[in-house]
Amino acid sequence: ARLVVLISGSGSNLQALIDACADPAYGATVVAVGADRDGIEGLERARRADIPTFVHRVSDFETRDAFDRAVRDSAAAFEPDLVVSAGFLKILGDAFLDRFDAAYINTHNSLLPSFPGMRGPAAALEYGVKITGATLFLCDKGVDTGQIIAQVAVPVADDDTLDTLTERIKVAERAQLVECVGRMARDGWRVEGRHVRIG
Ligand code: GRF
Repeated sequence: ARLVVLISGSGSNLQALIDACADPAYGATVVAVGADRDGIEGLERARRADIPTFVHRVSDFETRDAFDRAVRDSAAAFEPDLVVSAGFLKILGDAFLDRFDAAYINTHNSLLPSFPGMRGPAAALEYGVKITGATLFLCDKGVDTGQIIAQVAVPVADDDTLDTLTERIKVAERAQLVECVGRMARDGWRVEGRHVRIG
């Protein structure tokens, strides 16, 4: 399966996918990496792995729809089977979603539907939950509202800081992402209402 990965930051999830794809048995290849900004570590990771990149900044477009279409067209040029948002900090609208219907997934650092949005680990810590985690889901128009593909639980320790909790979640999140993307690539998937079935 051909993967296009969208990023906005450090790209540690991207790196985990690149590393997994080095094994032919994994069944997937990262064919391109897209970003909404320059100067991020994730783009360096792509370049080090000789993966083509594209960058579109929202501020370079007159409308958000024009941005969505540019990301769509750049991604589509690589003919992906799956587009993975891995820390990509933009919600893409209809122009993109219509093209990659049920083939655009995102990983989020909480157990949805708790703590959607940008502050997953911080919100979990502030609320005082004892278990949080990471969620892999199909993107829709909402903020972290699409059908859930997989979840992994992560305990919150009494002495956690934002940094220690964020890092513990990221370790579990990366493993889940790599495992599920591999299964989706090898076995396919289908959507049944709120459910995503792999294989
Ligand atoms: C992930 O934890 C994701 O859930 C959150 O941002 C992080 C991305 O990290 N939205 P990275 O860029 O893959 O290192």
